[in-house]
Amino acid sequence: MLQNDCHMRISLQHVSHDYAPSDESGAVHVLDDVSLEIASGDYAVLMGASGSGKSTLLNLIGAVDRPTSGKVFLGDVETSALDEAKLTSLRRVSIGFIFQFFNLIPTLNVFENVAFPLSLARRPKSEVNERVREVLKSVGLEHRATHFPNELSGGEMQRVAIGRAIVHRPPLILADEPTGNLDSKNGAMILDLIRDVHQSLKPTIVMATHSAVAAGYGDYVIRLADGRIEDEGLRIEE
Ligand SMILES: Nc1ncnc2c1ncn2[C@@H]1O[C@H](COP(=O)(O)OP(=O)(O)OP(=O)(O)O)[C@@H](O)[C@H]1O
Ligand SMILES: [Mg+2]
Repeated sequence: MLQNDCHMRISLQHVSHDYAPSDESGAVHVLDDVSLEIASGDYAVLMGASGSGKSTLLNLIGAVDRPTSGKVFLGDVETSALDEAKLTSLRRVSIGFIFQFFNLIPTLNVFENVAFPLSLARRPKSEVNERVREVLKSVGLEHRATHFPNELSGGEMQRVAIGRAIVHRPPLILADEPTGNLDSKNGAMILDLIRDVHQSLKPTIVMATHSAVAAGYGDYVIRLADGRIEDEGLRIEE
């Protein structure tokens, strides 16, 4: 299958994050002095109550947002020190995102949605065609290439989103409740697929979830409570 020689170690050093108030209320303190290391190739699971800061942490790891204080490293690069243009290009090249509500582009068909990261990178058409065909095959959607998102089931939409997340072979995949909007059968299919991606491409994966079933797919759980980490690196027993 696809090859990926890149590696992506994640390091957070004393990261705190506040959201600025949009009115007279005070700032929202979300993360409080979080330090953590995720080794290259790990499949880490992020758990914690609603509002505990899982999505915020994924956004900081994914260079979507910068922390209020502290440092975030992806490999040797301190992303918390990069400007917006550099963050954007790093996100495009190095990260694949999978979301709870799929976030497909409604006006693009399945093929075009999966091709999107390669189009942004201005890859040659022949390469795009070959790569997208290969990815559609691996997510089992070759026969849906010309369909639009509103013609797909939820499980199929998430398979397209996974295709889009892996098509540029990023060393890091971030998934925010990828089964949160699916029934258990489709959820299991998506978790199997993410596990296959992990085994074949060996990216580092960080997945936020409320589901114990989903958490069982990862190598270990990082648990957030009140903006802090507890039980970091708890290995999941089979
Ligand atoms: N843009 C924002 N502006 C202000 N506050 C925010 C913003 N985004 C999130 N928050 C607040 O930060 C806290 C953490 O939110 P976050 O989305 O990281 O939690 P979560 O653990 O992902 O929750 P869930 O399990 O419900 O997805 C919440 O109290 C939320 O209301
Ligand atoms: Mg969330």
